[in-house]
Amino acid sequence: MLRIVSYPHPALRYESRPVTQIDDRLRAAVRAMFDLMYEAHGIGLAANQVAIPLQFFVINLSADPEQRDQEQVFINPEIVKRHSTDEFEEGCLSFPALYAKVQRPRKVRVRAYDLQGNDLSVEADELYARALQHETDHLHGRLFVDLFDPTIKTNTAGKIRDIEQSFRDSQERGEYPPDDEIRRQLDAWPEFGPTA
Ligand code: NI
Repeated sequence: MLRIVSYPHPALRYESRPVTQIDDRLRAAVRAMFDLMYEAHGIGLAANQVAIPLQFFVINLSADPEQRDQEQVFINPEIVKRHSTDEFEEGCLSFPALYAKVQRPRKVRVRAYDLQGNDLSVEADELYARALQHETDHLHGRLFVDLFDPTIKTNTAGKIRDIEQSFRDSQERGEYPPDDEIRRQLDAWPEFGPTA
């Protein structure tokens, strides 16, 4: 059963592996991720946020489960072009209730595969560009808090400590194994092969 993990769950600092096969198991994970994302009122969710160490993420800028035509899946995404910069408030489903300004390129071009395995090449700006960069970062263990400037880092330190404590508490309660065990599980994650 998938669930969104919060910082500092080790999956969030994990360098995910490329997807090699698009099959029923991957499609089921994608559907579950969209549902979790809507439930949490998010616009994007990366696989390692549900502790799957593979390079894909889902996005729906409308955040509205009724607007399924806005759903997009990016598999093995790569940012191939970045242009100008922009500052805007960002949040992340793995950092509950934390919002802060982050500077990023304003426009990007992203290459990926879609869920049908077709080549996907997207030019995006503003919110769309920001979401694509935020989610692609996740797949490489990079988090939006890494981009905070020193003042914002200071101002958010307490909140981040609370988020961290809340994860450690749930670990103490046995909801998650110790970090080393989580990392072993991520290393051992089977390739998306035929479902058993
Ligand atoms: Ni995020």
